[in-house]
Amino acid sequence: MSNYEHHDYDVLIIGAGGAGLRAAIEAKQRGLKVAIITKSLLGKAHTVMAEGGMAAAMGNVYEEDNWMVHFRDTMRGGKYLNNYRMAELHAKEAPERVLELEQWGALFDRTKDGKILQRDFGGHRYARLAHTGDRTGLELIRTLQQKVVSMGTDVFMEVKVLKLVHDDAGRVAGCVAYHRASGEFVTFAAKAVILATGGAGKSWKFTSNSWEGTGDGHAMALWAGAKLIDMECIQFHPTGMVWPLSVRGILVTEGVRGDGGVLRNSLGERFMFNYVAPMFRAETAETEEEGDKWYDDHNAGRRPPELLPRDEVARAINTEVKAGRGGPHGGVFLDIASRRSAEFIRRRLPSMYHQFMELAGVDITREAMEIGPTCHYIMGGVQVDADTAATAAPGLFAAGEVAGGMHGANRLGGNSLSDLIVFGKRAGAGAADYVLSGQAATSLNQGAVEAAIKEALAPFDRSEGENPYTIQHDLQEMMQANVGIIRTQSELDFALAQLEVFTERVKNIAVKGGRAYNPGWNLTTDLPAMLAVCKTVALGASFRKESRGGHTREDFPTASEDFSKFNLAHASNGGNWDSPIETTESPLLPIPQELKALLEEAH
Ligand code: FUM
Repeated sequence: MSNYEHHDYDVLIIGAGGAGLRAAIEAKQRGLKVAIITKSLLGKAHTVMAEGGMAAAMGNVYEEDNWMVHFRDTMRGGKYLNNYRMAELHAKEAPERVLELEQWGALFDRTKDGKILQRDFGGHRYARLAHTGDRTGLELIRTLQQKVVSMGTDVFMEVKVLKLVHDDAGRVAGCVAYHRASGEFVTFAAKAVILATGGAGKSWKFTSNSWEGTGDGHAMALWAGAKLIDMECIQFHPTGMVWPLSVRGILVTEGVRGDGGVLRNSLGERFMFNYVAPMFRAETAETEEEGDKWYDDHNAGRRPPELLPRDEVARAINTEVKAGRGGPHGGVFLDIASRRSAEFIRRRLPSMYHQFMELAGVDITREAMEIGPTCHYIMGGVQVDADTAATAAPGLFAAGEVAGGMHGANRLGGNSLSDLIVFGKRAGAGAADYVLSGQAATSLNQGAVEAAIKEALAPFDRSEGENPYTIQHDLQEMMQANVGIIRTQSELDFALAQLEVFTERVKNIAVKGGRAYNPGWNLTTDLPAMLAVCKTVALGASFRKESRGGHTREDFPTASEDFSKFNLAHASNGGNWDSPIETTESPLLPIPQELKALLEEAH
């Protein structure tokens, strides 16, 4: 045994957002010894950036809503690249998971007759987002966190995982990590590991992701032998703040549009009427009067085009700005002030009101907000079995944003929070069943632990070298410019070549000072994961010669039948952070006839 601090668990969960917390509750309820590791603080997760609500076909506002319509909307929004089984389970189980949250103490906004109120969001046929004002993610985290703590779950905060470690039989057996506060290393042995590490948006310049969103879980899964799918599908949320520059990218909830806000260009035009894609034409209002009528009498008629799926709205904003019809800071205008009373706005959107008032000096009850697309979510992720959340690496499970498949090529707003609770629970159950089946690993390969620690310490041995912050900054600029909302082959080729240059630069980082609370060193340990993720995104984007959802190619502007039958899967050839990555086609699961009929009915 080594001299490092060491812990043993049945189930180890990496990540303390909604999926990680829900997984912990499930595994704990099955009597297992469970720990959660977070590199941040408990309660601080990207989950809170899903502000407007969690989608669940509860039928509280529209009785005609049901899981079948939700399933259809999700598949359609994902441009049919989804793992159908995940979309099916999600649509069927989300209502029960929301009610369970309520039983555990979550407070939701209410209909007049006391049911959970549901809000409109883009791409959903009916208003179906259960919400708490514009702070729904926060309420979800608060509720699950209280439950986790009350159950006596061990939580390791500010612990950064470097790498997953196998046992000698090749099963995932735990991880090696360090305490950010002291810089001391720590190892965890576990019979099953659940990745719930969230997303990877911090590799783009304008992002709603906080410092944690560096794709650690995606990369660790890749290195451990799991596959990543559809990494090119990145969601640029249409509405992020664009000004002041210091807060550029911070999310402006889709709830603003769900509650009546409209988008205008610098000429004052509601430009979204010009961007209704043929597949949505039957449902989307084509005149301002029709759109207004929908808002006014709320009869699920032809919806305003501001509530098209996010990929469509983000591209439209991009086009308006490029055509010279943008605002002074490179965005367009989101206007709720002229459409709703000040009292309504303050009551329904309190965080947005304060955010703009405090950060930009803008009173959204009187003025429009200038907004633009911000990197918000990665649809791609670890390939998992829908029912159990198991990955291809024995002993490794994944849930939430780090897992791929559920949302296909584009996620509908509100489907993220419900994804976390549906598949967080399933991952907890899947991992528990695996542990109880007796096939799990018991010991860490010490050679792998030592190798990971040696690699992490190497930057301290260099007296000369690059600054990690310069590399992070350059990477964000490069990804934003070349692997952003609209892509071309020449830009992607440039990005792929640049990523090799970044790899060499990372090998030459020099870190000064000690290991205790050393943010430069912390970032240095994030960069290998960021690069691995960026490479899979660029490789997928270069391979997929079509436009679909969160992947738009200027040189291949339409969806292609040829690319509609498979996910793009990436595997590491070597398992090290700089090992080559192989990309292959992974056929989509065949959809059973009864579910296919639901999709065809819709057409
Ligand atoms: O706009 C929002 O409130 C974000 C929600 C989501 O990403 O699901």
